[in-house]
Amino acid sequence: MLRAIEETVEYIKRKTENFKPEIGIILGTGLGGLVKEIEVEHQLMYSNIPNFPISTLEFHSGKLILGTLNGKKIIAMQGRLHYYEGYSMQQITFPVRVMKGLGIESLIVSNAAGSLNPEFKKGDLMIIEDHINLQPDNPLRGLIESELGPRFPDMSEPYKRSIISKAIEIAKTVDVKCHKGVYVAVSGPNLETKAEYKYLRLIGADAVGMSTVPEVIVANHAGLPVFAISVLTDEGFPEELKPFNLDEILEAAAKAEPKMTKILTQLISEL
Ligand code: HPA
Repeated sequence: MLRAIEETVEYIKRKTENFKPEIGIILGTGLGGLVKEIEVEHQLMYSNIPNFPISTLEFHSGKLILGTLNGKKIIAMQGRLHYYEGYSMQQITFPVRVMKGLGIESLIVSNAAGSLNPEFKKGDLMIIEDHINLQPDNPLRGLIESELGPRFPDMSEPYKRSIISKAIEIAKTVDVKCHKGVYVAVSGPNLETKAEYKYLRLIGADAVGMSTVPEVIVANHAGLPVFAISVLTDEGFPEELKPFNLDEILEAAAKAEPKMTKILTQLISEL
C-alpha cells in the first residue's frame, strides 16, 4: 500500500509541476458544479493515474482537478467511487491517502442522501455532524502499515467542530438554510425498504447514503480534519414513501447544488 501511494503521489507531482494542494475535495453524485468555480491548472483522468480505480457510473466523469478556488490551492475528485460498484474499501479510499501524500491539510466531502428526519425536506442541505457506519466492511481492516495511522483510530470528532461552526455562520450570511445531523452509510445499491428507513431513523440517523463514511474513516486515520455536507435528494419517510427515481434524485441534486457551492466556496477561503 505504501509503495502504491508513493508511486501515485510521484506520478501526480510529475504531471502537475509539483502542485501542492492545501485542501482536498470529494464531490458527490450530481454535485460537480463547484468545479466551475475552480481556476483549473491541471486535470488528470482517473484512468491515466497509476493505481487509481476507475469510476463505473456513467454520470461520474472520473477526473482529478487541481487548481485554485477562492485563493486556496485545492485538489478535487470529480466522480467518487462507491462500495456498490464492486471496489474494495481500500480502493475507494486510496485517493484520500494520495491527497494526503500530496500535502492536503483538510478534506471536504459532499454527497447526495435521502432524508430520514421529517423536518429535513428534499432539496435541503445537511452538514454532517456525526455518522453511523452500516457498510459491511472497513477500509482499515487488515492494514498493517503503522506509518499511515494508528491501529485503533479515535472517532470522537470525525467531523471537525470548528469547521462546522464556520460553515453554519457562512450559511447564515449567505442566507442558505442548512441543517446539522447524523449520516448513516449503507452499502446499496438498492434503496431502502420502508422498514429499513424506519429502522435507520430509530437508530438515530437524519440522512442515509451509500458513500462518504469510508473516506471519512481513512481521513481521520490519516489525521485530516473533515467537513462533509449532504444534499437531501429524496425523502425516506416510511408512511409516504414513493418509488425511487434516479432522474428525480439528480434533478434535486442539481437544484440544491448552487446553495452548497455558495457555502463551500466561502468556507474554503476561510480554512
Ligand atoms: N438511500 C440511500 N442512498 C441514497 C438515498 C436514499 O434514500 N438518496 C440518495 N442516496
